[in-house]
Amino acid sequence: MTARVTASVYTSHVPAMGVAIDRGIQDEPYWKVLFDQMEPARRWLAENTPDVIVLVYNDHASAFGLDLVPTFALGTGEKYEPADEGWGPRPVPTVHGHPELAAHIAQSVIQQDFDLTLVNEMAVDHGLTVPLTILFGQPENWPCKVIPLAVNVVLYPVPSGRRCLELGKALRRAIDSYDEDLDVQVWGTGGMSHQLQGPRGGLINSEFDHMFLDSLVGDPETTARIPHVEYVREAGSEGIELVMWLIARGAMGDLHGGSAPLERHRLYHVPASNTAVGQLVLEEA
Ligand code: DHB
Ligand code: FE
Repeated sequence: MTARVTASVYTSHVPAMGVAIDRGIQDEPYWKVLFDQMEPARRWLAENTPDVIVLVYNDHASAFGLDLVPTFALGTGEKYEPADEGWGPRPVPTVHGHPELAAHIAQSVIQQDFDLTLVNEMAVDHGLTVPLTILFGQPENWPCKVIPLAVNVVLYPVPSGRRCLELGKALRRAIDSYDEDLDVQVWGTGGMSHQLQGPRGGLINSEFDHMFLDSLVGDPETTARIPHVEYVREAGSEGIELVMWLIARGAMGDLHGGSAPLERHRLYHVPASNTAVGQLVLEEA
């Protein structure tokens, strides 16, 4: 048996969602209306917890900064502590990696001509920990191993959607060729439309977001052709985080000769903080 990609999960990472759960205020009306809509995804994940998640996310100048800007950085370490983003580290479990699978992914994906940066030691910020919290709650330990794959969408130049989709395909081929019976999910995180600064701060474009969700599910090759300037124009300066969803989508079987995935969950909600929140769960057919 080899490892298998069984599903892909897509979610926003708005830090205030993590803070709401950390502070135990998730039942306040502002949050309850949003978190109630996540219940189907949480239930599905409780029943379909993988052995390993390859979690595609972006660091927000916590582990990386102006001194070091890797476009694609794969976590090959044993463990990753939550980053201190200015208010102390979030009270969440240490993230445990899967160094053997990560080393295999590095070998395979680099041989498929993607120049990954390999990171054995780094702290992980809200980009990685908020998706885990909103979908797994507050367990003593995370229920599976997590291989971080950090994508630079913070400092220009950022990678194109096309390259992200192709990286997802390479990732799938890497996982498919790992010689151990492992259930692997690929998560794509960030988004949806949002802009956190400047005259357009607070921008939300629901029409674009819905188009993106439909297109990502049904026609990812076309979605991958959206140029980065269109993300910025339509989804705001931080809406560019959405290119990371294409990495997870590229790992699904329909782009590798299989059938279209089953859509198990979709949510779209405005607002959380200054942001539109989206989620999808796509299961292998
Ligand atoms: C906020 C920060 C983010 O990184 C993000 O993607 C969305 C919202 C915020 O500070 O509200
Ligand atoms: Fe962000």
